[in-house]
Order: sequence, then C-alpha cells, then structure tokens
Amino acid sequence: MDIKKLISQMTLEEKAGLCSGADFWHTKALERLGIPATMVSDGPHGLRKQDEEADHLGINDSIKAVCFPAASATAASFDKALLCRMGEAIGDSCQHEKLSVVLGPAVNIKRSPLCGRNFEYFSEDPYLAGKLSASFIHGVQSRNVGTSIKHFAGNSQEHRRMSSSSEIDERTLREIYLAAFETAVKEEQPWTVMCSYNRLNGIYASENPWLLTEVLRDEWGFEGYVMSDWGAVSDRVAGVAAGMDLEMPSSNGINDRKIVEAVQSGKLDESLLDQAVERILKIVFRYTENAKPETEWDKEAQHLLAAEIAADCMVLLKNEGSVLPLSPDEEIAFIGEFAEKPRFQGGGSSHINCFKTTSALEAAKGLHITYAQGYSVETDSADEAQIAEAVAAAKKAKAAVVFAGLPDVYESEGYDRSHMRMPECQNRLIEAVAAANPNTVVVLHNGSPVEMPWLGKVKAVLEAYLGGQAVGIATVRVLFGEVNPSGRLPETFPRKLSDNPSYLFYGGEGNIAEYREGVFVGYRYYDRKEMEVLFPFGHGLSYTSFEFSNLRLSAGNISDQETVTATVTVKNTGDRAGKTVVQLYVGDEESSVFRPVRELKGFEKVELQPGETKDVSFILDKRSFAYWNTQIHDWYVESGTFSVEIGYSSRDIALQAKVHVQSTTELPRHYTMDSIFMDLLADPKATTILKPLLDSMREVFEPASAEESTEAAKEAISDEMSLAMMNYMPLRGILSFGGDENTARMLEQILSQLNGN
Ligand code: BGC
Repeated sequence: MDIKKLISQMTLEEKAGLCSGADFWHTKALERLGIPATMVSDGPHGLRKQDEEADHLGINDSIKAVCFPAASATAASFDKALLCRMGEAIGDSCQHEKLSVVLGPAVNIKRSPLCGRNFEYFSEDPYLAGKLSASFIHGVQSRNVGTSIKHFAGNSQEHRRMSSSSEIDERTLREIYLAAFETAVKEEQPWTVMCSYNRLNGIYASENPWLLTEVLRDEWGFEGYVMSDWGAVSDRVAGVAAGMDLEMPSSNGINDRKIVEAVQSGKLDESLLDQAVERILKIVFRYTENAKPETEWDKEAQHLLAAEIAADCMVLLKNEGSVLPLSPDEEIAFIGEFAEKPRFQGGGSSHINCFKTTSALEAAKGLHITYAQGYSVETDSADEAQIAEAVAAAKKAKAAVVFAGLPDVYESEGYDRSHMRMPECQNRLIEAVAAANPNTVVVLHNGSPVEMPWLGKVKAVLEAYLGGQAVGIATVRVLFGEVNPSGRLPETFPRKLSDNPSYLFYGGEGNIAEYREGVFVGYRYYDRKEMEVLFPFGHGLSYTSFEFSNLRLSAGNISDQETVTATVTVKNTGDRAGKTVVQLYVGDEESSVFRPVRELKGFEKVELQPGETKDVSFILDKRSFAYWNTQIHDWYVESGTFSVEIGYSSRDIALQAKVHVQSTTELPRHYTMDSIFMDLLADPKATTILKPLLDSMREVFEPASAEESTEAAKEAISDEMSLAMMNYMPLRGILSFGGDENTARMLEQILSQLNGN
C-alpha cells in the first residue's frame, strides 16, 4: 500500500478526521480511498471488546472473554516465556474478534502501595516490568495484532489523574519511570503507545514533544503511532505537533476542526499532520493486510492456560513447618468468601466479562473440604456469627485455609487507596481461625501490598494476586502440591505504609505530585535504608530447595563498550521438581552519585528435577552498570568496581563476584574561580596544571611544624581541619589569603589552562 500516495489524495479535513476515533473503539474509515476502520480493545489481560454500549470504565457489557491473571500477578512469575504465551493467546483472540490493537501492557511503576491501578501494573522495578512487558508484546504481535504500551508516562497514581503533574527529575525519569517503556520499545516495537492522562513536569503527556518525539522516536526509534488515553487530550494542535497521532475516543469533530484551522492559519505545519496520518495508516494496513479472522479462539483451552499461568505466578511468602502442601486425604477447611467468589481481576477499563470462572471451592471438588464464608466483601465489620462458624469449621479440620485480600472497592482504576490495610472483618477472622487451628494458611487476593498484623500467627501465606478467572484451579493445585510454587515478589511488602519512600509526598499537593524520593523506589530505597520489610523484592518460597553456586565472570576487567558474562550453577537440592528464579543484581561499590545498593539486571526462571543441575548465564553490558548522567544527558558508567550478585531476593544474596568497568566516556569539565580544590585534585590533568601553585601554597596551608605550633594552635586547627579547609576552598580563595595582582593574573592563566585554552 502506497500510504504517502493515499495521503496526497486526501483533503485537509479528511486528514484531520483520521487523527481521531470514529467512536469509542474504532479508527475512522475513508471509503473513498479504500481505508478501512479498525477496532482496538482493552485490555492488558484479556479482551474487553464492547459490541454495543461503549465506555472506557468497564461499566457496560463486553463480549464473553477469557480473563488472564493481571500484571501484578504475571510479574510475579518472573517468567518471560510465560508472558509470551499469554500474549500469543490474547493475540489469537484478537485475530478472531477482528481487533487490530489490544490496549496494553500497562507498565507504570508501582511507586506506592496506594495506587488504585497497581493491580494492572507489573512492578516497582523497571527492569522487570520492561522485560516482561516486552515478552508479552512479542507474543501478541507474533499474531499480527498490535499492542499499546501504556500509560506513557509517569502515571503512578490515580488521584487527579487527568490534571496532576508528575514532577520527576531527569535521572529518576530515565532510570525508573521511562526505563520499562524504553526496553519494550527498543526490543519489541509495540505497534502503538498510549500516552497518559497526567502532565509530566507541567506538560500534558498528550502534548509533550520531548516525551513523544525526542525521547520516544528520536532516541528510542519508535515507529508506530501514539494514541491518547481515553479523553487525555487538552490542546489537540499542540498534540499533533508533539507527535500525538490519534485522539481517542474523539472530540466529536471539534478538535479535528481545530487541526484544520491551525494548518490553514499556518500555526501547524501540514507535514506534521501528514506524518500522523501516515503513522496511523501504516498500522491500520499492517493489521488489515494480515488479518486472520478464521483464527480459532478456543476459550476452554485458554481457561486452562489461564490456570497454568496463574499457578506459576503464585508467591509462597511463608511456609512454617512445611504446612504446605496440604494432603488431599485430609479434612481441610476453606474459609472466606473469596474461596467461593475469588477476586481475580480489578475494576475499570481492564474489567473482563468472563465466559466462566473457577473458584477454589469448585476446583477442590472431590477433596475433603468444608466451607465457611467467614466475612462478606460488602462490609468491613466482622460478623460474630460468621466468625464462630468459621472457627468451628477450622477446629474440626487438619488445616484451615483463609481466602482473604482486598475487596473490589479497595483498589480500582480511578482512585487510590488511602491505607494499606485489609478489611477489619478479614483480619479478625484470620486471628480467630489461627487461634482455633495451628495449621492456618492464608491465601491473598490483592493487587498490591497489604499489612499483615496476623503474620506471626499463621503458618503459611500464599500471595495469589489477581490471578484471572481460573485462579481457583491454580490455587488448589498449589495448595495441594500438584504445582510447586515458583512466583517471586515483583515488589517489596513494607511493614507499614509509612515505611514506603513516597509516603510523605504521594498524591501530591493539588495538581503537583513531586516524586521527591527520586530513584529510591521500592527495594532501591529499603535496601539502602537497611530497613526491615515484611517481605523483600524477589522473595518467594518453594516446596523444594535450590542452591546457587559457582558464580563466575568471563572477565574481571572490561571497558563499558564490552560485555561480561556471568554464569551460575543452579541445583535442585530437594526431592520435588520445581522452578526457581535466578536473580542477578549489580551494585556500584563506590559512586560519586547516590545510587541504590543493588539493582536487578537479569533474571531467569529455571525448571529442575530433584538433584538436577543447570548453568544459567547472563550477559551484562554498559547499561547494566550505568546510571543516567544529567551532565551529558546520557547513560554513563563511572569507572570502578561493581559487584555482581546472585540472589534469592534483594535481601538474600547467595553469591557475589566483582568486575572492574572502565568508562570510555570522558565527562566534559569546565572550571571556574568557584571550583573547589577537592574537585580539581580529583582530575589528574588539573592536578598537573595546579602543581606549581600548590607548591607555592604549601607554606600557607601545611600544618605548622611540631616546634612552631603551640598547644593552643594544635587544638584549634587539627590536620583534618586544615585538609578539609584546603579541599573545600575555591580557586578564588587563594586571593583571599594574601594574594596580590600577580596572584590574580596567575589564577586567570591557570583557569584558562584548566579549561583547555
Ligand atoms: C484507561 C486506559 C484504557 C482506556 C480505554 C482509560 O480510562 O486509562 O487504560 O485503555 O480507558 O478503555
């Protein structure tokens, strides 16, 4: 299809028209030129295709579909292949349903446990979110269906989401809030990107040229189109100029007319409009030319796939005395409404109309289960009769499993949580059941961390997150040992909300949300603070045991243009088959900027039979060691020694090796009279230039010799003090301590030499 030629045949009005939706879910057709309409649909973990009444908040009905685990859960799989399989399945269903783009994945960083949409987001760690979302995109797009990675960018709260400005400094943006998008764009070229509602450093994402053009396209090489989140457009003309191609759903022609006027008045260059149309049409035709509506959508098979995926996402947080797995021969009490009606997805635009769901109670049919409701999701207050019934059931059983977590109203798109607690009725229930049965297990359904005041009283905790419509099957498989749990926490569970680094500033003041904790998000903060946490990032237990050994690096010394391969041996030392996650962290031993102790730079999920051993390798490159340098506005590795760690979690490091990395970038230096000696003397070139001056100054600054210095002087000026005074003194300070015209001239000369003139 010669798209440029097509565009040359369009009127200005037609071009402007193509830059907004025909309705809630369709791009516009232009029949005169044979341009078809295409349909997009939510959401990240299954289809929310609305055939009739449309809305973007999941209010109206959509077709019956399959709800896979939400990203909060799939992130816990730490399994790239799994995300790819899920993407393929969703891609197939899109082909079947004639959908050109699925609106996901959503990769915003889980900055605070409070964000209402955390259940849809992957992680507090951008490396994990980036790699897993890239695999998902790969899977979907392998079916010739596009993805829309969202919400670009800095959309880590729901509070005032359409007006708030996320104020994020340059380094934090690059290292934390943009990095997952960057990985996905560079590695997998999502067909589309969805810009977020919020402003970023004052400018709406939907009209931010730095974000949508400089970074996304010029730097990362994005080739697709940018669409707005639903209703995220403020100044449409500025948006076109910034690189925001498709307004969704539309503004009923009003913004299209504004585009036309802007071109006519010369305010908007027509070539920018042409470019937007071209980008949209490329994707429209990429889909239509590869459409395969005959693709089968086997929902039953996908239900089972959803169960398989959910099981591999579950994180066994605690398992005292190996109370899990349970024995299928024994009497077990299932307690809590979620056993019967699991919470397996979140509210809002990602809400799926499931063709079926399987609860744990249904999945456990045939086993010896007694059930007590224990609480109602409709209320927070405890019902004594329900608790008594639960306690009675728990007393009679070998073990009691309480299904708990957050009811729908606790976390949803559109608003944030105000605390991190579970409903009081559930906490009370767990305490009561634990007092009645020593083998109490808690299964949690939630999209984000919760406080666990009862943790010390229960034997086991299984974090199921929001595991999709087949979560019941997965839960029963894990509880009874058919599946060995292998999930790892993609986020830290702090002991209490106020421990979270964003606690003091989260939500912002009015429309200003300052991300003041900077790069210290999640474990980057807790580890640096040496703060005790409930469960650390990367934590997760298994029914077998694993051992990491023999970490070796392919080199001890590299330049930042070279790579180093880290290889580690993993052994299943227990008596059950199982999967483990090898986590690789890198830390800079010494740095001139504030850096986290360690950052995830590699992870691999491996399956091992009892006694089996496998080698796992990771290639580390410049980016593994770099931080974002705001002087050169680029990634930069500071020469020095880095630790390469292999861990079971960010707090449980098993092995460590060291590598020296030499920078090949010389940072530009510019000195002034205000430059201090400490900085000058850290630069070998400057030290040579300064040598004559330093020699002449010795007399003034060197501590007086033993005979000359009186006791009083010694007390007043220690060696440390004179050294510090020297270090912190600016070049101009020389004049203040007895210089004359000659000294002034000499300093000018030195400065000019220092700056290479
Ligand atoms: C959400 C998006 C979603 C869109 C369409 C918006 O409210 O923020 O994530 O894709 O609606 O439903």
